[in-house]
Amino acid sequence: MESILIKGGVPLEGEVAISGAKNAVLPILAATLLTSEPCVIRRVPKLSDVKFMVQILKWLGAQVKYEGDTIRVQAKKITGAGDYDLIRKMRGSICIMGPLLGRLSKATVSLPGGCVIGARPINLHLKGFQALGARITIESGYVHASTKRLRGAALFLGGRAGSTVLGTANVMMAATLAEGVTVIESAACEPEVVDLASFLIAMGAKITGAGSPTITITGVKELHGAEHEVIPDRIEAATYAIAAAATNGEITLRGARADQMHAVLDKLKDAGACVERNGSSITIRRNGRLKPVDITTLPYAGFPTDVQAQMMVLMILTPGLSIITERIFESRFMHVSELARLGADIEIEGPSAIIKGGKPLSGAPVMASDLRASAALVLAGLAARGTTQVNRVYHLDRGYENIDGKLRQLGARIERIEET
Ligand code: EPU
Repeated sequence: MESILIKGGVPLEGEVAISGAKNAVLPILAATLLTSEPCVIRRVPKLSDVKFMVQILKWLGAQVKYEGDTIRVQAKKITGAGDYDLIRKMRGSICIMGPLLGRLSKATVSLPGGCVIGARPINLHLKGFQALGARITIESGYVHASTKRLRGAALFLGGRAGSTVLGTANVMMAATLAEGVTVIESAACEPEVVDLASFLIAMGAKITGAGSPTITITGVKELHGAEHEVIPDRIEAATYAIAAAATNGEITLRGARADQMHAVLDKLKDAGACVERNGSSITIRRNGRLKPVDITTLPYAGFPTDVQAQMMVLMILTPGLSIITERIFESRFMHVSELARLGADIEIEGPSAIIKGGKPLSGAPVMASDLRASAALVLAGLAARGTTQVNRVYHLDRGYENIDGKLRQLGARIERIEET
């Protein structure tokens, strides 16, 4: 297994190119299963989660070709829609269920297990499929969904924590080939859902309202092949923006979408960063002293849960008291105990982390537990004095393209080594 070794204390400076969004490309790749014609997806990030999704598509019988950051997929015939265990390995792959149900009127997937950031149920996905007329049974760890023909319906997809991103994606994809009109209320408004809707529309789907809590889908008989360029990854961009503020450097995010990052950029300004927009570039630097801020994670357009851990690092470096409240996932504070190894002073009280910031951090060996927790540990290592070794880097490779290369380009002293 590989580790990342960071010698901290260097202000990061320069430009970084933002890759395609992981959470957009995964459902978009799944959506290629809705047609027998070829689809071309551009600006695909090189991530292990993408490789994994490609493996699933191939397993299902699709032909997949990589050319640089472009992927060509053609699912002429779907042959492997039987029993398989692949879903367990990657939560994102649950979104093949909607396309399979839409195209074949049946789907079997293994139930995704819990993961370190919480229980991650799929009850809302299933509720949506049921509303479209699918019969759902759960047997020996597998979910089976089947129907003669999906029928459009009005359905409410809100849950305990609000909307569901992949649930909305899944039901929207299934509904494109249903008979009649589907209206999803309390739909997720995330830009990744909008990106998926644009791809589906390019394939011939009739969708309005994506990006709002009410999405209307008028079913069509079939979809055709299409080309699509994936949106830039707002979570990756936010992570590098925080790296600039945390190391007292200056980073320009090339190809980032400031219009999809309001909550993060606004909090960075409140925390004492200067944010300059210039076309499709955003430049971040510190603007005097850091200031404590309070943050609550919420569905889009609120502050994203996927940036909570990274923002915590900035608060650790900020003198004073900051409070971060996690409202999306119940156990997304796994990074706290590892950050404490570097000298962070954080107390957890229910869904909130109380951060007493301003104490200097010093490097230590730490263990990555999930993707964003790993990013936070890297940021903390970059800001700490001395050497930090982040073990189990494979979590990072799931969602950050070439993170060590990009950070090195910004001046970080970072290298990948075999875990000792
Ligand atoms: N929920 C339910 N029932 C469901 C589905 C979700 O109760 O059927 C709950 C969840 O337990 C959670 C909340 O609803 O409390 C929101 O979960 P959501 O369904 O929106 O999460 P997701 O679609 O499974 C995607 C991203 C996550 C990101 C969340 C929230 C992908 C592949 N994953 O997950 O990304 O945190 O939306 O924005 O799109 C990451 O990139 O690190 C990551 C975890």
